[in-house]
Amino acid sequence: MIHNRFILVIVLAIGHLNTCLAQYERRVASRDFYDYYNHANYDEALVPDYTLPDIMQCLDGTVVADVKTWEEKRRPELLRLFTSFMYGKQPLPDSTFSFERMGKDRKVLNGRAMRRDMMLHLTGDGPDVQLSLVWANDHNRLPRKTMMGISFIPNDSIFTFYPNGKRPKGAEAWDIDSLFAHGYALATFCYTEAEADKAKDLFKSSRLHRHFYQKGQHYPLPDEWGAIACWAWTASRAMDALGALAADIVDMQQVGIMGHSRLGKTALWAGATDQRFATVVSVNSGCGGAALSRRCVGETLECVNEWCHHWFCGNFRQYSHREEWLPFDQHELLALIAPRRLVVISGTEDHWADPKGEGISCQEAEAAYRLYDKPQQINYLLREGPHQVMAVDWHFILTP
Ligand code: GCU
Repeated sequence: MIHNRFILVIVLAIGHLNTCLAQYERRVASRDFYDYYNHANYDEALVPDYTLPDIMQCLDGTVVADVKTWEEKRRPELLRLFTSFMYGKQPLPDSTFSFERMGKDRKVLNGRAMRRDMMLHLTGDGPDVQLSLVWANDHNRLPRKTMMGISFIPNDSIFTFYPNGKRPKGAEAWDIDSLFAHGYALATFCYTEAEADKAKDLFKSSRLHRHFYQKGQHYPLPDEWGAIACWAWTASRAMDALGALAADIVDMQQVGIMGHSRLGKTALWAGATDQRFATVVSVNSGCGGAALSRRCVGETLECVNEWCHHWFCGNFRQYSHREEWLPFDQHELLALIAPRRLVVISGTEDHWADPKGEGISCQEAEAAYRLYDKPQQINYLLREGPHQVMAVDWHFILTP
């Protein structure tokens, strides 16, 4: 009898737990993305009071007054903080990719340009990951300064022009004519070849994430990388590939990295972690990119952590609604790019990305650039228009 009651209590307890979990899931699901979007704060008068962490003050109180202290103490400290609490650490050794040149250079764009195709192979026990990297220029003087673009669409789509002059959807973000006219080559890879962009696919990952899971592991640990760090790390490996397979045509001292929106966040993290990128460009990167988290304008950490939580590491979720507890803010991410050229572009209609917060972030990041006497290396543009890469953006990027 006692035994039966005991079983009943257990069964009831499990039932209750299930109900609680289901309610929790419903609560999360009941705030869909548009609910966040429509009820976000867009009113300057409602921005909470906040104090930004001081870029120039180390955790132990040391004040940074010179480049040496910045480079040897504060910069590595900030990198560690962003790694542990936001983007996550990358557990793969850098040498995991091998590179292969794919055949001879081809003529593309009606013979106007030369294209070199490269393949990156992920070696090891996990699933096979292949990444194609395409570099193109217009036959002029070599080696070329190069913009590396992290792309939403496959490489072939970027370089396709239909006979009527139109291009595939999404390709217009890459203004090949302007790039070539300003003496740049374009190198691109498609981000989902490296890692999926859906939480459920990433946790079941068949790509980069799977390669670092220990036996029996199915989820990244709280401090292990989210998708943004995977894509950023891939950009570094693409940089390795250019060095190994295209140093004859690429000026390796003048390779920039560029991305839009979530890939703008990625470009910033790639620029922060890999100092070989001479120019770092983010367009409309918003929350988790150039925008200050503490302003809570437009997208907030709660939304990005609910709807896009696979972009960041698990530790980042604890800061939803607790922005003031963050041990950093995004102006310090931008500071990590100093003294290299940083281009941040916002759109007046892109309220979700908090254009004003992106601008303040750039102003604040100047503290690190001033150490090098190079504040002019931060180029911020607030232009008319929506959340998309526009021709005016390219003009701004290409004419420093
Ligand atoms: C969503 C998301 C943003 C992101 C954007 C994008 O709007 O909330 O953080 O920048 O998608 O990548 O297109």
